[in-house]
Amino acid sequence: MPESQHLKGAAYEPIDNPGMRGVVMERTHDRLSLERLRRHLTTRTVGHHVFVFNSVDSTNSALARLADRGATEGTVVLAEAQTAGRGRHGSEWFSPAGENLYASVLFHPRIAPRELPLFASIASLALAEAVWLEGAPARIKWPNDVVVHGRKLAGVLVEAPVISGRVVYVILGIGVNLNVPATELATALGDNAEGALSLHEVLGRDVDRNVFAASLLSRLEKWHQTFSTRGPDAVRAAWLARDALCGRRIEVRTGDTSCEGWYRGVGTDGSLVLETDDGRTRHIFAGAIRALDNKPGEDG
Ligand code: BTN
Repeated sequence: MPESQHLKGAAYEPIDNPGMRGVVMERTHDRLSLERLRRHLTTRTVGHHVFVFNSVDSTNSALARLADRGATEGTVVLAEAQTAGRGRHGSEWFSPAGENLYASVLFHPRIAPRELPLFASIASLALAEAVWLEGAPARIKWPNDVVVHGRKLAGVLVEAPVISGRVVYVILGIGVNLNVPATELATALGDNAEGALSLHEVLGRDVDRNVFAASLLSRLEKWHQTFSTRGPDAVRAAWLARDALCGRRIEVRTGDTSCEGWYRGVGTDGSLVLETDDGRTRHIFAGAIRALDNKPGEDG
């Protein structure tokens, strides 16, 4: 397989990753392939240009380089593996080869920076739907984690340069644990593995990564259209219907500080709404959330 496959579009130099040449895939039957992806893709804009890499530092970084060279709305970067996969708050995203999905999608929405959080929630909505369609009861944990039985299956890294108060572009970077074995997750994530799982673990079978990617991209286009035509409130309402934390007691950690309270949903600006014990309402824009109450069978 070449270093990258490109579906449609202008000439493009593949990104070089000499360190990852010769990576041997264990699941040759399930390689990402433009041809198989295309067979299931029903979109008009999202996936019009698709780049599939064997290995890349981060699909978000690869797509940012393409965006800087004029890539158009809906351009997608997929990779079999990432050597420097990035998560929120500067964390690493475990990105083994040939098992999961690492996808980044480019948008050029005409939105103000304050609208970014709700715009980004189209990614977690699309993800949750794609996971439901595979047969797992996915819910969303603020801001954009997708959880099943309270454990994280997928996350979204949003990157959006803002110049002179204008959003230049938005990259929605999506990582999904699809077929990675639980033992491999445990080795890679250590203590954090308790809070994570793969779709294979939930369903007891492998997930076809090309089919899943196509399903996710189709749903992403649908929610993007909803945002554009019906506005952020329609997206927020759908997001709240899948909210994993509704009415829960939570802790929000931001840097070295943390606070507790009752989760009261998401504001019209996409902030997390927390009711603290002194009766005040706080709007939180960044942080890691932990549910403090143990409700058996509930997510969080
Ligand atoms: C999170 O911390 O929850 C966000 C994880 C996002 C990971 C994905 S994998 C594809 C894209 N490329 C990256 O480097 N990160 C995102």
